[in-house]
Amino acid sequence: MTTPGKAGLAILISGRGSNMQAFIDACASGQLDASISIVISNSPEAPGLQRAADAGIATCCVDHREYDSREAFDQALVDCLADYRVDLVILAGFMRILTPVFITTFCGRLLNIHPSLLPLYPGLHTHRRALEAGDEEAGVTVHFVTQELDGGPPVLQARVPIIPGDTPDSLAARVMLREHIIYPMAASWHLQGRLRLEGKSAYLDEALIPANGVQYRADTS
Ligand code: GAR
Repeated sequence: MTTPGKAGLAILISGRGSNMQAFIDACASGQLDASISIVISNSPEAPGLQRAADAGIATCCVDHREYDSREAFDQALVDCLADYRVDLVILAGFMRILTPVFITTFCGRLLNIHPSLLPLYPGLHTHRRALEAGDEEAGVTVHFVTQELDGGPPVLQARVPIIPGDTPDSLAARVMLREHIIYPMAASWHLQGRLRLEGKSAYLDEALIPANGVQYRADTS
């Protein structure tokens, strides 16, 4: 439910919604001075939809299979969001490629989380690819969304060591713990007016963010 006076978040999901849950918790605890206006899924089967409804949040399914083109689907998303207060759009495991129809509407107010150390491993199966490459570390990146798939400027990145015997699942579970910390943190920067996109660059407190994003440490705030 939207709280008058508070910034409104729109969260887009496709699956279980554990990152969405991190935002629900961050709003409830006051870590985020915002409320979640709407959760949208592109799939009616997404377990996160029920999770959001159980938390008393408005939900909507915009089923991509009902649209002839990506642009028509994106326009339906834009139309749905027009009914809500949306200061920031959070892609939280939203597994559809967005077109300029959506991206230009929310340019500078659109964040994604991607489970790799971008610019490494855009796309799918990131943990498997990191393991197959023999990498010593994996991680996760929050970034602004631009037209380039997983290519918008990184904002905040957390690194996670790969340990002997890791599987894609064991690695994903450890990375996920970091996802739930850094995504609400990056969103709070935006809501506080500390974070902005200008052209192809991201700025925090008016300083250019490095190409890999701010590197998360225990004392990052
Ligand atoms: C998360 O690991 C997120 O980083 C990833 O999907 C998962 C969603 O989990 N996103 C992408 O791969 C986007 N390219 P969740 O539904 O439990 O938040």
